[in-house]
Amino acid sequence: MFHVIDPRLFERPLLDELCALATRARLAAKSEAGSRALRDLLPTRRAMLYFTQPSTRTFLSFNNACHILGMRTSEIRDPSTSSEVKGESFEDSIRTFSSYVDVIIMRTKEAGRAAQAAQLMNSIQRPVPVINAGSGSDQHPTQALLDIYTLQRSFEDHGGIDGKVIGMMGDLKRGRTVRSLCYLMKNYYGVRLVFIAPEQFAMQPDVKAHLDEHRIVYHETTRLDEALPSLDALYVTRMQTEWDTAGESRSVDLSRFSIGAPQLARLKRDAIIMHPLPRGPEIDPAVDQDPRAMYWRQERNGMWMRAAVLAKIFGAEDRIPESPAR
Ligand code: NCD
Repeated sequence: MFHVIDPRLFERPLLDELCALATRARLAAKSEAGSRALRDLLPTRRAMLYFTQPSTRTFLSFNNACHILGMRTSEIRDPSTSSEVKGESFEDSIRTFSSYVDVIIMRTKEAGRAAQAAQLMNSIQRPVPVINAGSGSDQHPTQALLDIYTLQRSFEDHGGIDGKVIGMMGDLKRGRTVRSLCYLMKNYYGVRLVFIAPEQFAMQPDVKAHLDEHRIVYHETTRLDEALPSLDALYVTRMQTEWDTAGESRSVDLSRFSIGAPQLARLKRDAIIMHPLPRGPEIDPAVDQDPRAMYWRQERNGMWMRAAVLAKIFGAEDRIPESPAR
């Protein structure tokens, strides 16, 4: 594992390994001795967090994952403080980061930027790995990894992810998290997807073509009420209003793509509700009290999965302490 750019490149053995590593790190961190052992894993490695698009969770979870492993971090979050305002090219900026650190973790407003950075790295003498922490409305591979980890943990005692019915609801057109998660589904047997979205924000043809190619069954609907009883997981997303050009999100009757008490009543008792967060009105905060609400755990899973990814990239995975009890 070097760059983390394209979720399509992840195969089942690696996904299973990363989930196991995330669990090992999570359990190790419960004890003082385990936390210290984790901190001794990568004390000589440095990370650049280049986040020029807003981020709370992805930034904080990567930052803290680095610190858990003993890494040091530098950051640029506001491009107006970087030499890009002096006209430095994107390529030169990335190359400069690579002069000082051992990994570049980046989020940009533009699609394809992380891929471009990785390509540049492949052409220079001292390349460092690039991790895509969200590229426009395109991809968000590490979110998909933590989503897989959350699904796997939730279904651990129910046969795992294989064979499950997974609903994805909301702005599926511009939501990069669901797009990336769809790309990982080819690794699981018999998964069925249900896309619940307003027609104008339906899942895009590129993702559907990928699902067709891998014979992953999906069904599209605008009716949450009809889909609800069949779901093992409901992955809720917000309207990605930041991509609106003429307020098109406002035309959506969000009440039809939201979850509150009436929807909970129709959801299976052992189903789970996920959301990459931040949430808008699509999940009533009262849902947080329901044992099926998994999004706060999902958020925390992100830190452990990102620690697993970093340990794997630097070949430190075998040194994550094995926890005595599970
Ligand atoms: C998501 C993102 O940035 O794409 N958030 C996250 O990383 N947890 C989802 C979103 O912003 O809707």
